[in-house]
Amino acid sequence: MPRLGVNIDHVATLREARKNVRYPDPVTAAALAEMAGADQITLHLRMDRRHMQDRDLEVLKKTIQTRINLEMANTPEMVKVALYLRPFSVTLVPERREEITTEGGLDVQGHLETIKKTVLKLREIQVRTCLFIEPDLDQVRAGHKAGAQAVEIHTGRYCEAFGGPGEDREFTAILNAVKAAKKLSLAVHAGHGLHYHNLERLLSIVEIEEYNIGHAIVARAVMVGMERAVREMATLLKGR
Ligand code: PXP
Repeated sequence: MPRLGVNIDHVATLREARKNVRYPDPVTAAALAEMAGADQITLHLRMDRRHMQDRDLEVLKKTIQTRINLEMANTPEMVKVALYLRPFSVTLVPERREEITTEGGLDVQGHLETIKKTVLKLREIQVRTCLFIEPDLDQVRAGHKAGAQAVEIHTGRYCEAFGGPGEDREFTAILNAVKAAKKLSLAVHAGHGLHYHNLERLLSIVEIEEYNIGHAIVARAVMVGMERAVREMATLLKGR
């Protein structure tokens, strides 16, 4: 049964829209998500701190009941944060200041040596490293060469194509990347742009062991509450 990682960044986005308020608190959202069936809490501490703040990660580290998956750029500052706070896992993502959300996967092939070094540092303190990549066979192979334990396949292109003529092509790209990763003994995660309707088809790829989903859950939570939104996603994922 796949794990559900609930990404709480967008709770912080709502808080930061008013800068000087303390609500809604992403740490409270994390607790509610866990009570509703989340297996993991995922958060992206961006270099510009546009949504999650250092305080959020620090408090969450003290209150987490499940495990923390920290998404971050591979920069000296962020590696320092990870080494200090020791989340369960780190997912390395590309980051550009002008993007609205993480666009595209990490170019592991192009940054192999620096990524390898970070993977090694994290491995030394028993933190698992996952690399967020496009469903591209060269990037899968590079992920293996980098020594990562897992790859997270970027599902953005599949989600954009969902329901249209390109859906089969994008689905097949994910399927092929997953198969290639498993052959190299990499654990496979998936995420980005997933919602309550486009997730089902991916569930046929049983090798995907973890999904990280944020925007769709937080958006539904505004309407029905965090617990119900998470529970509904967990039910879709786990079929109960
Ligand atoms: N996985 C990764 C690596 C991401 O960067 C994001 C977005 O922060 C997600 C999953 C979640 O994407 P979404 O908010 O579209 O569900």
